[in-house]
Amino acid sequence: MPCPTNRTPTNGLSVVECGTPSIGPASHGWADCFGLFYYFIFAKSHYLPKNHYLCRKHQTVIAKNMKIALIGYGKMGHMIEQIALERGHEIVCKIDVDNQEDFDSPAFASADVAIEFTNPTAAYANYLKAFSHHVKVVSGSTGWMKDHKEDVERLVREGHQTLFWASNFSIGVAIFSAVNKYLAQIMNQFPQYDVAMEETHHVHKLDAPSGTAITLAEDIVSRLDRKTAWKKGTCAWDDGHVDGSADHKPEELLINSVRHDEVPGIHTVSYDSEADCITISHSAHSRKGFALGAVLAAEFTLTHEGLLTTTDLFKF
Ligand SMILES: NC(=O)c1ccc[n+]([C@@H]2O[C@H](COP(=O)([O-])OP(=O)(O)OC[C@H]3O[C@@H](n4cnc5c(N)ncnc54)[C@H](O)[C@@H]3O)[C@@H](O)[C@H]2O)c1
Repeated sequence: MPCPTNRTPTNGLSVVECGTPSIGPASHGWADCFGLFYYFIFAKSHYLPKNHYLCRKHQTVIAKNMKIALIGYGKMGHMIEQIALERGHEIVCKIDVDNQEDFDSPAFASADVAIEFTNPTAAYANYLKAFSHHVKVVSGSTGWMKDHKEDVERLVREGHQTLFWASNFSIGVAIFSAVNKYLAQIMNQFPQYDVAMEETHHVHKLDAPSGTAITLAEDIVSRLDRKTAWKKGTCAWDDGHVDGSADHKPEELLINSVRHDEVPGIHTVSYDSEADCITISHSAHSRKGFALGAVLAAEFTLTHEGLLTTTDLFKF
């Protein structure tokens, strides 16, 4: 059950119960990661930054009443709006393809953070437009990095902009990613196992392999000496046709894709040997976990700067 929002100022502090939605205790864990820091630095000295409140129940600091702009008002945009409102934030501007002029509106410029979920070809231009108004961006759009990674890194570094980007915002994937890294380290000692990956998503997804699969693959490649790069493999569709090829060199980590129905996202890493097979898998039940993660990332971004990602939020 959500905590009711219930402000009672005491001792000069803004005190609320945090309104964390029923997605569960994990979301308090996220808030606590960075909240405890603020609790000791700010709450103990009777000062909280703008938009931050002390949660009476959890003795931690949370961001509330943020002004959020949405860039991309599709499936993710709608779900993010719902969760942001539940958490006490205000949506000041919604931008999609047919109202691009709103990037130049006072409402957009008033946003504390813009949350961007569009597509691989639109994302980079959207970051530039938001940065030109000095609005921090949280983005989950995937597929843009191969063309614009260096430009974005430079803009953030030299232009003093802020981008929180994650190929996957769900807490489950953050945990899965930590397990994936640890497993790759262990497997470095066991050359008899060959590793491969498969990701499955809905048929509307424009990029393959998924951004999450690429991040997981890069984490493996940087830990497993016998793999030097990942390689895009096949993409199998519901109508039976298969794009691409599974050909790869032994030192390449193959990522195969499946595009099926309305699947929100499944990622599987398999280590296969003559004797046995070790498989780890994450399966999202809906988009809700991604949307909550994006809103929590926006709350984090309010008080952080530079190039940020989920490992800044979770300290496993
Ligand atoms: N990182 C994550 O956790 C995560 C999770 C889910 C989806 N995604 C990614 O987020 C993106 C959006 O997913 P979705 O399911 O909401 O897709 P969607 O197709 O439902 O919505 C995308 C929206 O963006 C709009 N759009 C396109 N170009 C635009 C532009 N230039 N400016 C503003 N809006 C524009 C479209 O009109 C559409 O309404 C995809 O790249 C997807 O892969 C990431």
